[in-house]
Parts: sequence; C-alpha cells; structure tokens
Amino acid sequence: MHDISQYQDFFINYLKSQNISKEPKNLYEPIEYILGLGGKRMRPVLTLMAAEVFDADYKKALPAAMAVEVFHNFSLVHDDIMDDAPLRRGQVTVHEKWNLNTGILSGDAMLILAYQYFEQYEPEIFRDLAKLFSKTALEVCEGQQWDVDFESRTDVTIPEYLKMIEYKTAVLVAAAMKMGAIVAKTSEKEADLIYNFGLNLGLAFQLQDDYLDAFGDPETFGKQVGGDIIENKKTYLYLKAVEFSTPEKVAELQRLFGLQLEENKDKIENAKAIFNESGASDATQKAIEMYTFKAFEMLEKMDINAKKKNILKTFGENLMGRKV
Ligand code: IPE
Ligand code: IPE
Ligand code: MG
Ligand code: MG
Ligand code: MG
Repeated sequence: MHDISQYQDFFINYLKSQNISKEPKNLYEPIEYILGLGGKRMRPVLTLMAAEVFDADYKKALPAAMAVEVFHNFSLVHDDIMDDAPLRRGQVTVHEKWNLNTGILSGDAMLILAYQYFEQYEPEIFRDLAKLFSKTALEVCEGQQWDVDFESRTDVTIPEYLKMIEYKTAVLVAAAMKMGAIVAKTSEKEADLIYNFGLNLGLAFQLQDDYLDAFGDPETFGKQVGGDIIENKKTYLYLKAVEFSTPEKVAELQRLFGLQLEENKDKIENAKAIFNESGASDATQKAIEMYTFKAFEMLEKMDINAKKKNILKTFGENLMGRKV
C-alpha cells in the first residue's frame, strides 16, 4: 500500500498522460479545462486504494479510476448548470466560461469518455465494471432530480433528504471503491463491505459539503458560499433548523426560502443565523461524525490487515476535517 498523497500523484500523472484534446476544440477544451482544474481527486484515489487493499497493483485500476473521475467531472459540469453556479474549484464554471450548449455537449461527451475507459479491461472485469457504472450513473441522475424537485417543496423529510444524497453523491463514492475491488477480483463479500464503507463515507461527505456551502471560507472554498441558500436547497441544515425552531422562526425560514436573493439581500446571513441558533449546525456536525463512524464499522468486518484498515480510516478522518 502507498500513502494517500502518493495515490493522488499516481492518478494525476496518469491523467496528464491522457491525450484528451482534439477537434472540435469547443467540445474538448472545456473537458480539459474542468479535468485540469484540480479538485481533491477523492474518488480515483479511493479506486486505487481499494485495488491495493485487495492485493492488486494500483496500476491495473488506473483506467477505472479515470472513468470515475471523468464521470464525476461530467456530473459537476451539468450540476453547475442546474444549480446556476458561477464558480468551481476557484474558477469560472464551464457554462459561464463558454455557454450553456457547450456545458451540455461537453458534459455528454465526458459521460461517454468515462465509459470508454472500461474497454481496457478483459471481458469479465469489463462486464462487472460496466454494470456497476450504469447502475450508479442512473442513481446519480435520480438523486439529482430529487435535489431539484426538493427546491420547490416545503415538506421534504429527513429520510427523503438522506435518500437524495445517497443517490446523488454517496453511490459514486461507494462505486469508486467497489471498482477497485472488482479490478482486484476480490470476493463479493469484501466488495460489498467496501461498497458500504464508501456509501457511509459518501453520506458524511455530502453532509459536510452542505455545511461548507453555508459556512465555508469564501477565500478557500472554491465555490460560491451560500449557493445552496440562494437556490433554496433543502439541506440537512435547513431541515434540522425547521425541526428545532419555534413556529415563528420556521415561518421566517420558509419565507426566506421562498424569496429570490434580489428580493432579500440578507437572505444568506439570515438563514445562516437561524441554522446556528436553532442547533442545526451542531446537528449536522454530529451527523457527519455518525456516518463516518458507521463507515469505520464496515472496516471492522473486513478481512484485511490492520495497516490497511488504518489507511482507510485515516482517509475518512481527513475527510471530516476538510475545509474544501
Ligand atoms: C463535489 O465533489 C460534488 C459533491 C458530490 C459534493 P468534490 O467535493 O469531491 O469535488 P472536487 O472534485 O474535489 O472538486
Ligand atoms: C453534487 O451536489 C452532486 C453531483 C454533482 C452529482 P452539489 O450540488 O451539492 O455539489 P456542489 O456543491 O455543487 O459541488
Ligand atoms: Mg451544485
Ligand atoms: Mg447540485
Ligand atoms: Mg454542494
């Protein structure tokens, strides 16, 4: 096994070795742009790590790791259109730098490109990877649709929210890990355990993404702080604030989330104040810890040595402390 930072380097070097750009420029340049903007590279690192956890060489997992990262970046290009987001990784989003149609078509091309990376595997592994990928990609679409549907609903429940983030985010983190397990041809039992490790880590990850969207540092966060509040997203912060607040505060929150930013310049500050006063911020922090520990419980059940468990655990602990 290697360190997390080594897996990051292995992946970035592989990414750089890929010749993505060709004609027509307006299709491929945005793809190179978004993939070159950086990001944490969490999902591909998890794929490489999972392969080595199950005793395969990380090199064998590089095309699968690439497929996962290209798919993730595709989902971000389309997500930024859907969320009307101006910033991604500290830079202008694709649809704002080019235009809407470019964002749609370059995104579509990335989805296909991701799939093509599986062609590098022998038939049995190809089949398993492609099957997992198709299932996951469809679930991400379902999660994204719920996310959008919830913007205009006032009766979203916590279980509905949890299902939504499981689909839009956690299943891809889980699949990234299971792909490493598939490449390593490990047993189904171990592959499912690492999938569930990734799933719980992914839930914690999206809860933290929601938290940082409101409370992240604008200097370093890389996305528009308050974007979820502007878009009336029904995040855990919002849902817990509704649960914990007096009827008057709930009415105020619901009024705020029915307004456009132009109609109320203090929308973001007011919503954040209610998130804090109500105890919703603390509850979100607790939920992040809870799902991270649930992920660690999966590790306990796995038939791998203590050193490997520790590397995976360190990864989860680092994620909890992240600021971007
Ligand atoms: C952003 O993912 C989308 C979510 C699922 C929250 P990341 O936070 O992993 O984005 P990058 O790749 O590091 O920029
Ligand atoms: C992202 O959810 C989920 C997917 C991209 C599939 P968000 O909309 O919260 O992600 P960010 O915050 O824009 O990165
Ligand atoms: Mg978004
Ligand atoms: Mg979104
Ligand atoms: Mg977000």
